[in-house]
Amino acid sequence: MKISVYHTPESTPDNDIPDCAIVIDVLRATTTINTALNNGAKSVKAFSDVDLLLAESNLLPPASRLTLGERGGKKVDSCDLGNSPLDCSSEMVAQKQLFISTTNGTRALQRVTSASTVITGAIINYGAVVNYLQKKQPETLWLLGSGWEGGYSLEDTVCAGAIASGLVDLNNSDNIGNDEVVASIALYDQWKDNLLGLFRLSSHGKRLLKLNLDEDLKYCCQENIISTFGIQTEKGVLTLGC
Ligand code: MLT
Repeated sequence: MKISVYHTPESTPDNDIPDCAIVIDVLRATTTINTALNNGAKSVKAFSDVDLLLAESNLLPPASRLTLGERGGKKVDSCDLGNSPLDCSSEMVAQKQLFISTTNGTRALQRVTSASTVITGAIINYGAVVNYLQKKQPETLWLLGSGWEGGYSLEDTVCAGAIASGLVDLNNSDNIGNDEVVASIALYDQWKDNLLGLFRLSSHGKRLLKLNLDEDLKYCCQENIISTFGIQTEKGVLTLGC
């Protein structure tokens, strides 16, 4: 398995696609998607465009669908919910088809829709992702952060480091595909006992704090509270995997 970490969809190499991509948007899209699926949502379909999302979701009866939209951390008015994992309780999402559009996470998902395997990783489930990868041993693996509008984000990189730590032996460099792998492991090693502290330092964490979303940060930093993940079953559509 050759592992590469990319901090943003924009930093991935042109005209290349891995066998397996783990898409990471810890604050908050992949945490929300994983939570919704774990709580019984039938599927989650990702859109970069809210109008397209509304057009497609409107084809379903209202009782069987739920729309989630976020821009700049805030809920999109025309959607049922924003992008808070805390809104995705079983009561809210069970048996529903979800349609989601967020500032960065859904764009990262779209960058890799043509990979054979696409999985949503987050701090709440990275152990399940590592177990899956150890079993499946894809030849090429990207740990793809979503970042913020083309820039680096601490929270996605630390999660990439948590996953890479479970797969890479730093004394045997054979499966290290780029320097970002080693840097992400170093970040995780430094902050693994204080992920909430790191999230509160991060630029998007600060943005969410200004919106009074500290409870979201506290939820998103909990390690391995679920043992499932989202896995792409058709282009842009994620269902429950474990
Ligand atoms: C994103 O896609 O940028 C986000 O998940 C932002 C957020 O809702 O916190």
